[in-house]
Amino acid sequence: MNKKILNLSIRNRLLIQLSSVAFAISVCLYLITRLVVSQAVTATQDSLLTASLQSVIDKIYVVENNISIDLPYDTFTLLGAIGEDRIFYRIDKNDIFLTGYQDLPMTVKFGDIQEPQFSNIIYKDETFRIAATEIVVFVMEKSYELKIMIAQSQNFQKSVATKISSNLLIITLLFFMIAILFAFLTANLAIKPIDIFADDVKLRGPKNLRKVSLDVPSELQPLANSLNEFISRFRSTLRQTETFIAEAAHHIRTPLSVVKTESELALRKSKTPENRKRLRTIIKSVDQTNRSATQLLDHAMVLYRAERPETMRFSIQQSVNEIVNQFKPAADLKDLDIDFSSDLDMKETVNLDRTLFETSVRNLLDNALKYAVSETTVKVKLTKKSVSYELTIQNKFSSGPLLDQRQLFKKFKRGEKTREIIGSGLGLSIVQEAINAIGGSVKIKKNKGDIICATFILPC
Ligand SMILES: Nc1ncnc2c1ncn2[C@@H]1O[C@H](COP(=O)(O)OP(=O)(O)OP(=O)(O)O)[C@@H](O)[C@H]1O
Ligand SMILES: [Mg+2]
Repeated sequence: MNKKILNLSIRNRLLIQLSSVAFAISVCLYLITRLVVSQAVTATQDSLLTASLQSVIDKIYVVENNISIDLPYDTFTLLGAIGEDRIFYRIDKNDIFLTGYQDLPMTVKFGDIQEPQFSNIIYKDETFRIAATEIVVFVMEKSYELKIMIAQSQNFQKSVATKISSNLLIITLLFFMIAILFAFLTANLAIKPIDIFADDVKLRGPKNLRKVSLDVPSELQPLANSLNEFISRFRSTLRQTETFIAEAAHHIRTPLSVVKTESELALRKSKTPENRKRLRTIIKSVDQTNRSATQLLDHAMVLYRAERPETMRFSIQQSVNEIVNQFKPAADLKDLDIDFSSDLDMKETVNLDRTLFETSVRNLLDNALKYAVSETTVKVKLTKKSVSYELTIQNKFSSGPLLDQRQLFKKFKRGEKTREIIGSGLGLSIVQEAINAIGGSVKIKKNKGDIICATFILPC
């Protein structure tokens, strides 16, 4: 449960927090408004009761040494008419009941004429608002204490409170919904820079070691800086490794060619078949090592350029044609024909890293010639499709099944039946790295009649 809360996205956290605040504000707003409204209604009722008390006091006379009260029924009727309220009164003279409703409970405190005392009482199973005042009347220099109370039921107050409450509930709900909408917009707005930053990192893919943009909010600045520092450190380590491999391969190749020349010389001079056999094994191993060193060098170069391709405009047809021509002597040695056809115009140009493109084509063509059955034709065909260029290289191969797609492109993976032929197993992984870097794709499959077909697709 705890883990789930911890994994909440920042947007959801913000939404929850803002919604909680909106909810708390809505509840407070509802309660405060209700309180203010009920206070206002009570104050209105109180002033009406005060006015009634006043009119009762106005009607107190002293007639023939007696106190006489002319009750203002019209005022009571008016008071009762509002919200169909019930009105009760009680007048006591010197704490002895004089007139009104005797069962109306006496309140403890009484105010004066200006400021009567108000309180709530329960009478006849109902809550009544009561206004109580105390006045002194002098009759023949004798003072009489008159306690006057007027009670009004609270129907009017209740009906106003119910009406306002239901309206207030709708207004509060509306406010809450608008606040939620704003909370959603705010959360989205707040999260936007983080989303942009995340997209920048996510969309680049694992091979892209470009630095991330520093145009981020200050809170993300340390993260962007650390990421960039990490990328540049990683890049320099990668470059050091590539340079090291390239230099090592180069250093190996020079002494190897000396070993090969010396071994060939020794082979020519050698008389015994045993020695000749041994020397041939040495020469083959040297060739194998030499091929591995060359391919390692190529691999390092492709990795380096894949990181920062140098694009240029060139004719794709001319480029493939030149490579085919370079391979012609090797094809002749194996009694192979290379048939190159293209429906492209010489002027048709592409804008990409030429070295990466040519390295891929060279490795594919090298495979086709190397593994083709002798005295057959290797067909190279360049065509233009609606949104891409398609280069197919076909050769006849009858030494058993082809490796499956995933194995084919793995580093140092070679076919069982082709181990006798010199190779490192790096060729196709170089092709894949290079083609990925220029945005293309490659597929190799075995067609009917033992024809291996490598298809290289390059978007226009
Ligand atoms: N055109 C092809 N015809 C037949 N088999 C192929 C062809 N291309 C690749 N293969 C098979 O795929 C394997 C891997 O090829 P890849 O080019 O990666 O390595 P390699 O040719 O053995 O070595 P390298 O290219 O480094 O000299 C080969 O050993 C071979 O068995
Ligand atoms: Mg190869």
